[in-house]
Formats: sequence, structure tokens, C-alpha cells
Amino acid sequence: MRTQVGIVGAGPAGLVLSHLLHLEGIESVVLEARSREYVEQRVRAGVLEQGTVDLLRDTGLADRLEREGIVHHGIEIRFDGRGHRIALTDLTGGRSIWIYGQQEVVKDLIDARLAAGAEIHFDVEDVRLEGIDSETPSLHFILGGTDRRLDCDVIAGCDGFHGVTRGSIPNGVLREYHYEFPFAWLGILATVPPSTEELIYARHDRGFALHSLRSPQLSRLYLQVAPNENLNEWPDDRIWEELRIRLAMEGWNLADGPIIEKGVAGMRSFVVEPMQYGRLFLAGDAAHIVPATGAKGLNLAVADVRVLARALATWYRTGSADLLDAYSSRCLGRVWRVQDFSAWMSSMLHRYPGDDGMQGKLQLARLEWVTSMESAARSLAENYVGLPFDDELGV
Ligand code: FAD
Ligand code: DHB
Repeated sequence: MRTQVGIVGAGPAGLVLSHLLHLEGIESVVLEARSREYVEQRVRAGVLEQGTVDLLRDTGLADRLEREGIVHHGIEIRFDGRGHRIALTDLTGGRSIWIYGQQEVVKDLIDARLAAGAEIHFDVEDVRLEGIDSETPSLHFILGGTDRRLDCDVIAGCDGFHGVTRGSIPNGVLREYHYEFPFAWLGILATVPPSTEELIYARHDRGFALHSLRSPQLSRLYLQVAPNENLNEWPDDRIWEELRIRLAMEGWNLADGPIIEKGVAGMRSFVVEPMQYGRLFLAGDAAHIVPATGAKGLNLAVADVRVLARALATWYRTGSADLLDAYSSRCLGRVWRVQDFSAWMSSMLHRYPGDDGMQGKLQLARLEWVTSMESAARSLAENYVGLPFDDELGV
């Protein structure tokens, strides 16, 4: 088998890249370790930045998103039993966020790619990379019990944090930056109408809580828990009781309902530099992980492949590798900005184990400032809706 760009991973990064390349007339093949059903059901992020929505819309992928996605113009920050609205749209000259589940984005992308005749192979096993430091890299894998080989010009590593592509770069090339936060999120999906119109980020002495949603009938909520938390110790009643305490505000009630999905996800900051080695380009979670507070992971993955698709298009069209050579540094500027924002949001809202009161007081001072000073609220809003791309700024 032969293609121009071999893409490992059918998550948001790999699928959006394949779609953007197709629009540029560049062929790709996507290799995915899991089944189609699995990747279409996997519950993860749900907040799309304005720039992500614009890209999906501009490239013909937003029909269902326009119908079923929910546009939000603000978020609420709740602490000391009071709610404060951050008016995202007013503060950012008209930018917004959209609520639309990651698995819905993935479904739309797979449908669009297959309708265009794309090759996506699900359930592939044992993916290995060869020759990434040569001009003829190849992917080796097992499909339906048979050994296969895919020769490519370039390989895109879009296989997430636990994928294989990053590990195929020789030792000593990458510098890894890693920080493990001393807490995790217990996330639930519940068939109950959301008790709020806008997302609520709540700081409480017992820990952080977040009320989000997926649709008018489906709520998504999160609780700060310990990194090694045992889900078995969290029967549904306990989850609702704890959410009710942490989100409490006079005159406001949290409606509960059947929990249909439950999971614990750790919180880490992780970045590799550079995001490229030879003919292998890493994108999305394969290259970086952000702590979830701020909902940036999916958006950052899309931002990477936007840069990569343009660089590859220029390379194929003109032969110039300048943009490809600049891929890593262009992405990393945004990656570190988003790391800083996500870590900042996380540290403002979570209880730190062992805090003797000092951290809590500093958090409250910061929260008062963010919710009372327009300049501070604007900074939060600008980062939350997503900073514009260089090319939108004419850079
Ligand atoms: P992924 O979506 O991880 O896609 C990588 C793909 O590669 C997967 O389909 C995987 O099966 C495949 N793959 C892996 N290894 C191989 C291999 N060896 N061969 C072939 N294919 C392979 N972000 C938020 O903003 N809010 C959230 O609430 C949130 N919740 C999350 C919960 C969890 C459990 C996780 C893991 C992440 C969460 N994120 C969240 C982050 C967000 O979902 C990711 O940033 C986003 O999925 C990144 O997209 P990606 O395409 O880079 O990687
Ligand atoms: C969601 C996830 C986030 O990480 C966040 O900051 C807000 C909302 C969500 O899954 O809806």
C-alpha cells in the first residue's frame, strides 16, 4: 500500500487532518487501533472554541453541529455560595463557545471521510514505524490477521498520549515536560435536563465541581477527587450528594437523574519538544496533554493539524519545506499559552491536598479579582473562547 500521508489515530487530530488534506488534494490513510463503534462512543470533551467551530464550518463539517450544538455566550464561576457570570461574548468582541460532544465531532468526521471515499482502517494491531529519519518512511501493522505495510511521504502521529508514534523517536531527541496534578476528575453523564443554562465552575472547600451539559436532556458533571480514587466508592447517591454540596447556592437546585456513564480521569500537563522528528509529525495528545479545566485538549489538537495541513499543502505544491520546518515552533507557542491558562484555571479552582488555608485564601483573592475587574474577566474570556490564530491576525 502507498499513500502520501500516513495518519496514526482516528481521534479529532487524525480525522480533521485527513479531511483538511483531502480538501488540498492530498491523499492519506488513517490507521486506528480501536473499532469504529468504540471511537464513536468514547465520552470525552464537550466544549468547542469559536476557532474550532469556524474551521469545521468553513470546511463543510458543521451541518449537524449547527443543528444540535448549543452556543454559549457566558460561563458562571461560583464560590462562597455566590455565582458570577463571565460574559464571554461581550468581553471578546463577539466570540463564543459551543457545546457539542467530542464523539459527535468524531462521528461527523468519520461519516464525511468515508463518504469522500477515504481509507480509514479500524481495529489495526501492532502499528510500527520505520524509516522516519529517511525520505521513505513506512507504517507496518496487522489488519484482519495479515501483516501490512503502508509506504508514505510523511507520517502524522495523532495517536494520543498512550500511542506508539512518540515512542518511535530515538532516545535523546525529545525533551519532555511533565507535571502531575494532585487531583483527578470524576465525570458523569446523566439523563436529566441540566440545572443550568451556562457551565458552572465551582470552587468549594471540599473541592472543585463543574456542571456542564451535552443537550437539553443530558447533563455532564465533574467532581474533584483524589488521583487514585476508586470509582466503586462512589455510588450514584454519593455523587449527587457531593455535587449538591459543592455547587450549592441559595435559590438554586440541582436536579438529579440516572447516571449512564462514570469515569475518573487524571490531571496532567505534558509537552514534548520538538513535535517533529524527520518525517514524523506529532499532533494533539500525542504531543501534549493539558489539565481539563478550561476544556482545551480537543481544541488544541485541531489547532495543531490546522498548522500541519497548511504546511504539507505548501510543501506538496511548491516543494518548500519552510512551513514544515516551522511546524513545531508554531504549534508550541499556542501549546504553552494554553498550558498556562489551563494550569491557572486549575490552580484557582481546586483544593490542594494538605493546604493549611493559605492556598484557599489566595484562590478566593484571585476569584474576587477575576469576577470583579473587567480587565481580568476579559483575559479569562479571551483565553477561554480561544485565542485567534496567527493568520487571522495577519501575522
Ligand atoms: P485522541 O482523541 O486520544 O485520539 C487518538 C486515537 O489514536 C484514538 O482513537 C486511539 O484509539 C488511537 N490510537 C492509540 N494508539 C494507537 C496505536 N498504537 N495505533 C493506532 N491507533 C492508536 N478534554 C477536554 O477538553 N474536556 C474533557 O472533559 C476531556 N475529557 C477527557 C477524558 C479522557 C478519559 C481523556 C483521555 C481525555 C479527555 N480530554 C478532555 C482531552 C481530549 O479528549 C483530548 O485532548 C482529545 O481527544 C485529543 O485528540 P487527539 O486526536 O489528539 O487524541
Ligand atoms: C467539559 C469539560 C471540561 O474540561 C470543561 O472545562 C468544561 C466542560 C465538558 O465535558 O462538558
